Amino acid sequence: MNTRIIQLLGVPFLVAGSLLLTHVVPAGAKPSGICSNCHTMHNSQNGVSMAIGSSTGAKEFLLRGTCIGCHAQGSNQKILNMDGSQVPQVYHTDGSGDLAAGNYAYILGGKGTPSDSHGHNVVDLGKLDSVLYGPPGGIGQSFHDNGYIVNSTNLTCAGTNGCHGLRDPFVPSGSLQALKGAHHNNVDGQCNLATTVANSYRFLRGVKGYENQTDKWQNVSATSHNEYYGATSPLQLGCSTTSCHGSDSVMPPSNTISGFCGTCHGNFHTLKTSTSTGIGTVASSPFIRHPNDVVLKNAGEYQHYTTYNVTAPIGRTVVPSAASGTVTPGADVVTCLSCHMAHASPYPDMLRWDYTEMVAGTTGAGAGKGCFVCHTLKDG
Ligand code: HEC
Ligand code: HEC
Ligand code: HEC
Ligand code: HEC
Ligand code: HEC
Repeated sequence: MNTRIIQLLGVPFLVAGSLLLTHVVPAGAKPSGICSNCHTMHNSQNGVSMAIGSSTGAKEFLLRGTCIGCHAQGSNQKILNMDGSQVPQVYHTDGSGDLAAGNYAYILGGKGTPSDSHGHNVVDLGKLDSVLYGPPGGIGQSFHDNGYIVNSTNLTCAGTNGCHGLRDPFVPSGSLQALKGAHHNNVDGQCNLATTVANSYRFLRGVKGYENQTDKWQNVSATSHNEYYGATSPLQLGCSTTSCHGSDSVMPPSNTISGFCGTCHGNFHTLKTSTSTGIGTVASSPFIRHPNDVVLKNAGEYQHYTTYNVTAPIGRTVVPSAASGTVTPGADVVTCLSCHMAHASPYPDMLRWDYTEMVAGTTGAGAGKGCFVCHTLKDG
């Protein structure tokens, strides 16, 4: 028996078995800790299920939890120490802040006044979005988007109707198969290949980026943050394997984080085609929707955004090997994550800040934040 099982049985002492001593590894990019923290051979000990979370049945890859079971435990730790295994949490009540993608507690409750408009209501949370069905901005080509494939009744963590792992119709929705092999092969830091789930940014197949190695999974300060990958122009989509779809799963052909969001919210990202209006015809003003994957000009008000601000992160067009505190107008680009979080935020429309504070000419609470980080001459 190992520590975890003994603790499960409520016996609060530690057996220093050889298994324990040889398996203690430092927290890194890959799962750490004894196998039985996360796996169970029969899903049975003393006749009781070994499951973590509410789903008690035996699971694929002999896991003790589902994505939600492991990553959304609702504790007061944003990085949960599960007997030596560090598990990043996307639903928690930790007062010291949230991980970079946000916190589903803003939808479910546990932090502030919960609202469905605060984020992506993935079905695994058991709380469907009361307003939205299909992804807003979905390009209404025949059966694509408009909620036919992904909608608020099936949006999930991974697979066909999800964001992480292989988004492939042959991976059953909600299945851990979309991530097979990713956790134990997780590439940390610079993810500039994005050819597998494991070497893609945060297991988002095909997305490049840099994963913060100082404060793991977090955007903390100008010099300790993830780096998002962007391009100097959004793509103009068709529907071939080189366009919206990769050859083995749905992924952004440009490898950018905004292109990734655009796989569901196409019109908010792409350039105009015969079937979509996108952000405009070309990647320059006048735009018809706020641009992303466009360069922050080295002119006018934009030239003054030079120190990285985690409330309005920019993207880099070359994947860095470390976080940088410098923003370079003329080179760095706007991304969806310049304004939005990815999972859930404290604010409506999953924004990084309170839009009601973005008042033209303000010297109040919103000054210097949000829109004004880039539009530096529009506040007071
Ligand atoms: C902290 C959690 C955690 C610990 C500890 C852990 N695993 Fe895993 N393991 C996972 C998860 C999650 C998956 C399934 C998703 C994936 O493959 O990315 C997995 C998948 C696997 C797989 C199938 C996919 C592959 O990579 O081959 C094997 C085999 C495996 N684990 C063996 C082990 C063994 C042996 C140990 C102990 C030395 C261990 N695991 C410890 C979380 C863990
Ligand atoms: C048995 C527990 C367990 C399960 C089940 C599990 N994870 Fe994880 N996950 C972990 C642990 C532990 C880590 C931290 C170590 C690592 O990065 O591999 C992690 C890390 C991650 C990361 C961060 C990777 C990075 O780049 O640092 C993502 C994203 C993720 N998991 C998504 C998922 C999704 C999606 C599922 C369901 C399909 C899932 N996990 C299922 C335990 C689990
Ligand atoms: C797999 C498809 C998919 C991807 C990829 C995706 N979304 Fe969504 N998104 C949806 C769906 C479906 C909804 C509507 C349901 C909901 O809000 O829960 C939605 C809703 C939203 C909303 C409105 C939230 C609300 O409830 O008012 C925002 C903002 C948003 N997405 C931003 C993003 C951003 C930013 C990204 C990239 C980081 C992204 N989405 C990636 C499917 C997706
Ligand atoms: C990360 C930086 C950034 C943030 C944050 C940002 N913008 Fe922008 N915005 C830009 C860039 C870059 C352009 C394109 C300027 C150009 O190329 O002429 C732009 C263009 C615009 C335009 C003009 C579009 C056109 O057709 O010329 C408006 C209006 C605008 N932004 C409003 C906002 C508002 C409102 C917010 C906050 C909700 C905001 N922006 C947040 C960088 C940003
Ligand atoms: C400059 C800031 C900014 C950028 C960049 C941005 N958004 Fe938004 N987004 C907003 C604001 C503000 C709203 C509120 C509604 C509005 O003003 O249209 C919003 C609303 C949304 C909604 C909800 C729409 C609805 O009908 O409820 C979705 C979905 C969304 N954005 C997705 C995206 C995606 C995907 C990207 C990147 C391709 C992106 N946004 C880039 C600021 C931004």
